[in-house]
Amino acid sequence: MSINKEQVKTALAHVLHPEVKQDLISLDMIQDLIVQDKYVSFTLEMPAQNDALASELKQRCEGAVHKFIDREAIVDIQVGINVSKRQEAPKPAEPPAQPLSGVKNIIAVASGKGGVGKSTVAVNIAAALARTGAKVGLMDTDIYGPSIPTMFDLFERPNITTQKKLIPLEKYGIKMVSMGFLVDVNQAMVWRGPMATSAIQQFMKDVEWGELDYMILDLPPGTGDIQLTIVQTIPLSGAVIVSTPQTVALDDVRKGVAMFQKVKVPVLGVIENMAYFTPPDMPDKKYHIFGEGGATRLAEELAVPVLGEIPIEQPIREAGDNGKPIVLADEQSNAAHAFYTVTSNLQQQLSLREAEAKPKVQISFKS
Ligand SMILES: Nc1ncnc2c1ncn2[C@@H]1O[C@H](COP(=O)(O)OP(=O)(O)O)[C@@H](O)[C@H]1O
Ligand SMILES: [Mg+2]
Repeated sequence: MSINKEQVKTALAHVLHPEVKQDLISLDMIQDLIVQDKYVSFTLEMPAQNDALASELKQRCEGAVHKFIDREAIVDIQVGINVSKRQEAPKPAEPPAQPLSGVKNIIAVASGKGGVGKSTVAVNIAAALARTGAKVGLMDTDIYGPSIPTMFDLFERPNITTQKKLIPLEKYGIKMVSMGFLVDVNQAMVWRGPMATSAIQQFMKDVEWGELDYMILDLPPGTGDIQLTIVQTIPLSGAVIVSTPQTVALDDVRKGVAMFQKVKVPVLGVIENMAYFTPPDMPDKKYHIFGEGGATRLAEELAVPVLGEIPIEQPIREAGDNGKPIVLADEQSNAAHAFYTVTSNLQQQLSLREAEAKPKVQISFKS
C-alpha cells in the first residue's frame, strides 16, 4: 500500500522538538514533502545550524514514519537552514522621535487680549536671542491673524523636503513658520478649531526645525480652546504673558495665568507693553499714560515676576510694519534696550526653573 502525504504529516506531528517542546509540523519545520509509493522525502528546516539536533530530529522523523506508517518506508531527509525563520527576539521598536526634541527651551508668548503687542514682543524676544548667537525658532500659532510675515517682511512659500517636511523660512538668524506663509489669511479665517489645531500639530511634527536653543511661540490672543490645545500639545518650558497697563487689571491676564497653571506650565513672568511714553526730545522722561505699577501689583498678586516694561514708541510700530524688529533696526534705542532687559530676565527665569527642576545632589562629608 502506497503512503500519502497526510499520513506522513500525522506521523511527523508526533515528533517533538526537544527544546521548544512542540511538534515539527506545528513548528513548520517540514518542507518540500514528496511522497511516492514507499519513498518519503522532505527538508527538515532548521532555524540555525545545529548538527547534533538535526541528526537527532532526522532519526526521530525516520522512526515516526516507520512506526506509524510503514516499517519499509524509505525516508530521505535533507537539512536546510532558513535564517529568516529564526525565532529572534523582536527588536525593540525605535521610540518615535518626540516632536521638537531638538529644541532646548520652548516659550509661549500669550495675552488675554488681542492688540496688546504680543506678536511685537514675541518677535523682538526672538530677535534679541538670535542677536546673542543663540539658535532660535519662531512659531506663529496665530492661525487666524498671523503677523509674523509682515513683521519680517517675509511672504515666500517655504520649501518641502523629500520626506515631506516643511523647511522653515529664515531671516536674521531666526527660523520661522507661519500660517501666513502657507495660505491666504482670509482662507484660514474660516477654519474651524480642529483644523487650526491640526495645523499647529503639523508645525510641530512636520517642520524641519532641527536643533534650537529657543523656540518662541506667538500664541493667538485669548485663553480659549485653541490656546488650551496648543499649550497642551507643545512641550512648553514656560510662558510669558503680555499685557498693557490698561489690561493688567483685567481678568484676561488672570485667565491667561490660570490657563498655564491648569496645564502645569510655569508662568515665567508678565511683560508690560506700552508701559510708558518717552518723548524723543526728552529721553529722560517717562510718561505713564495708561497708569503705573499695574503689572507689579498683578505680578505680586499672582506670584509671578515682572520681566520688564516696554515703552510705547512710534519706532517700535514702524519697525514691525517695515519687517525688521526694533532690536535689530535700532540696536541702541531705548526700546531695544527694554527688549534686551526683558529677554535676559526671561533667560534668568528659565535657568532658575531648570535649577529647581534638577534633583538636588546630596554631598556627604566623611568625618
Ligand atoms: N510698544 C509698542 N509701541 C508702539 N507700538 C506698538 C507697541 N507694541 C505693539 N505695537 C503696535 O501695536 C499693534 C498691535 O501689536 P501686535 O504685536 O500685533 O499685538 P498682538 O499680537 O497682541 O495682537 C501693532 O501695530 C504694533 O506695531
Ligand atoms: Mg499677534
